[in-house]
Amino acid sequence: MQVIKHYIEANKQRLLDELFELLRFPSVSADPKYAPDVLNAADYVAKKLNDAGADKVEVCQTAGYPIIYGEKIIDASLPTVLVYGHYDVQPADPLELWKTPPFEPTVRDGKIYARGACDDKGQFYMHVKAFELMMQTDTLPCNIKFMIEGEEEVGSSNLGIFVKANKERLKADVVLISDTSMISMEHPSLETGLRGLSYLEVEVTGPNRDLHSGVYGGAVANPATILAKMIASLHDDNNHIAIPGFYDDVTELTPTERAELNAAPYDEEEYKKDLDIAEVWGEKGYTTFERTGTRPTLEVNGIWGGYTGEGAKTVLPSKASAKISMRLVPNQTSDKITQLFTDHFLKIAPPYVKVKITPHHGGEPAVTPTNSIAYKAAQKAIAESFGKQPIPTRGGGSIPIVALFEAELGIKTVLMGFGLDSDALHSPNEKYDIFNYYKGIETIPLFHKYFAELSK
Ligand code: BES
Ligand code: MN
Ligand code: MN
Repeated sequence: MQVIKHYIEANKQRLLDELFELLRFPSVSADPKYAPDVLNAADYVAKKLNDAGADKVEVCQTAGYPIIYGEKIIDASLPTVLVYGHYDVQPADPLELWKTPPFEPTVRDGKIYARGACDDKGQFYMHVKAFELMMQTDTLPCNIKFMIEGEEEVGSSNLGIFVKANKERLKADVVLISDTSMISMEHPSLETGLRGLSYLEVEVTGPNRDLHSGVYGGAVANPATILAKMIASLHDDNNHIAIPGFYDDVTELTPTERAELNAAPYDEEEYKKDLDIAEVWGEKGYTTFERTGTRPTLEVNGIWGGYTGEGAKTVLPSKASAKISMRLVPNQTSDKITQLFTDHFLKIAPPYVKVKITPHHGGEPAVTPTNSIAYKAAQKAIAESFGKQPIPTRGGGSIPIVALFEAELGIKTVLMGFGLDSDALHSPNEKYDIFNYYKGIETIPLFHKYFAELSK
């Protein structure tokens, strides 16, 4: 531990400067305009892995953005940890809400503000630096492999192909990911599950062209109104999702599991205050943690149609659209849910409109074991660096690779995230606490140490 602390202290500024350099690449995978920047970020990651001491570093081409691979095999008889992360980020807009530009990392009050500061550049880069630390101090206790991708934020559609084609190269005893949240720095936690995802786009078409809303209004159904009604009908009065068959595969937690989950600290007043809402909302009969971690949900991610520009335009639009996604819990599959949604949405469409549905990406839910050597190593590492036992929680977000690694390679994952839900992932003014960044670099070598020790 002293060795680790010394190394961090001695390299403090450089560890931060390098992360800042990484954060300056606007590696937005969703927008083709940023393609050169995404590729530059990929090259930077490869260079840094190489500098840190990894062998066989490769910028692996895919049909989309490249996957960076690197490894250090010190002894084939020792266990191997596969570190996964992503160097792509979400779009930064709405830009006007950022206090400082998203790709010019800025420190305010001990926090780094930048798109990707927490999700996931700040978090995966801790692993690159922790690896460097173990190499420099001659303390790497096991084999390590890195796989850092560039399409996580757009559904990792080329990752499955890469994993299938590289089974031998990716062989490992555990996957280690820092791309999730902790409850707080005072209450360190480990996520033990993630939700899956089905994402679709719906388009409702009424008349064959935009119409004068005075001349035709009253005689022709407005697709925006129809879409709003259709969407509103997807939840019932108890906020259950009203799609037939939607809950068929959902398993209820046991009373013990529920009690454990709800034992985690939660201050509803604080929660509401942080978001400036008067009340929380959700499926009747479940607590906030249950709703976000263990229950499926349906959200409208975007909705548009008609005139949205300056001033007023009296138009009855021809079309209205929405992006809708559903979070899935264990046992549900994204293909089945996408099908159930599609069938239902077409069925509830009234005769005044035509409906077109386009599925986007999906991902399967995952639960990670809490009785494995790797989970115990993560517990010990956190207990040592934070001075407190981590609390197990269920994450509401999705990292499709977790289920994929298990299905294709038979490897389980440990989700050792150091972010906070309040770090504004995917929102304006995303941030990551400098304290968390160093804490991560401190904790990761301890994970490797205990994983190697407990594996003996
Ligand atoms: N790192 C997040 C997922 C996450 C965040 C999990 C916080 C748990 C806590 C990841 O980058 C992400 O945003 N995933 C997407 C899914 C993807 C298929 C676009 C998500 O959850 O919306
Ligand atoms: Mn992420
Ligand atoms: Mn994300």
